[in-house]
Amino acid sequence: MSPIDSGRHNRFLRALRQQPVDTTPIWVMRQAGRYLPEYRATRQRAGSFMNLCRSPELACEVTMQPLDRFELDAAILFSDILTIPDAMGLGLSFAEGEGPRFAYPLRTLDAISRLGVPDPEGELKYVPDAVRLIRRELDGSVPLIGFSGSPWTLACYMVEGGPTEKFAHIKKLMWDHPQALHQLLEVLTQSVQVYLEAQIAAGAQAVMIFDSWGGVLAPGDYREFSLANLAKLAQSINRGPDNVPIIVFSRGANGHLEALSQIGADALGVDWTVGLGEARKRTGGRVALQGNLDPAAMYAAPESLRQQVDMVLRDYGTGPGHIFNLGHGITPDVNPEQMRVLVDAVHELGRRRDLFA
Ligand code: CP3
Repeated sequence: MSPIDSGRHNRFLRALRQQPVDTTPIWVMRQAGRYLPEYRATRQRAGSFMNLCRSPELACEVTMQPLDRFELDAAILFSDILTIPDAMGLGLSFAEGEGPRFAYPLRTLDAISRLGVPDPEGELKYVPDAVRLIRRELDGSVPLIGFSGSPWTLACYMVEGGPTEKFAHIKKLMWDHPQALHQLLEVLTQSVQVYLEAQIAAGAQAVMIFDSWGGVLAPGDYREFSLANLAKLAQSINRGPDNVPIIVFSRGANGHLEALSQIGADALGVDWTVGLGEARKRTGGRVALQGNLDPAAMYAAPESLRQQVDMVLRDYGTGPGHIFNLGHGITPDVNPEQMRVLVDAVHELGRRRDLFA
């Protein structure tokens, strides 16, 4: 028995609050996903990715799959960031191997002005329903993370209509009609707020905001079109009686770590292009840090993977406030056995963290 009461049931939440833990907690972005054969089987049964998201029973089933195999310290709701634009009527689909597509991308100012805030207990009810079901199934074993896309990242997908490398449409809108983009971001900020509040009310014990495309903006544009709404959300979300922690992951935005650490979030997700030691200095202890192993390390031999884990842990250094994760999602062709190597290495080496000083 460890002197610190922080077993698997609560070491993730304790680390988010920068309280001492017995070892470093770990969960992995996209931990329920295509690298698991049982996920692929359930998805096949569902018929499509969106059917999987819209069925609370199937979403619960795939949420539990990685936890049945590995000693992960948190579950993450199985869903997608694009449920909000789908509920706004943009007609979301996922073609095999092509990523998301909207049948009706936002290309006119008129279309933007017609958007409304979807009701999270109405057209999005399948999401809080899944949260309620998963909490029951988890039965206190590990905490459940809810999530949403950031307003900026959702706007990128809605205006572009799908994945892009150029961001031509959204940036043209940003420069030619900044007020229209602000109007879109305002509706999205309200939508994300009530969506996350509904997940918290349904039982989510932490929430994460994915700003996957924050890093494509120049610094001034980032502050105006991404950071401002992340701050608004971190400050205005009703976190409920348990004061649910908020994690913000603004991918590729390492130049803004100082600013991000002051918006009122409890933790920041960090990608692997900045060292955790440096990130820790620049964020001044104001937030916990979540990350940041290069996801490609999952292709390395088990012994090399363990070494990389050791380096990430040492870079963070001693003291609380670290949640181990990859710097972005686990990729579909990773051997699932590597996840066991990763989780065991984090827990084993994380117990020796006090020796790192
Ligand atoms: O396990 C988990 O992390 C929870 C589930 C989860 C999914 N998507 C499931 C999913 C989470 C948290 C997301 C977030 C998400 N979705 C983000 C933010 C994180 C990031 O990657 O930056 C983004 C940008 C999306 C949008 C999205 N959804 C894309 C671009 C794609 C296609 C990419 C791909 O890998 O094919 C998806 C589909 C998606 N979302 C899958 C999963 C498991 C794969 C769908 C399938 O089964 O084919």
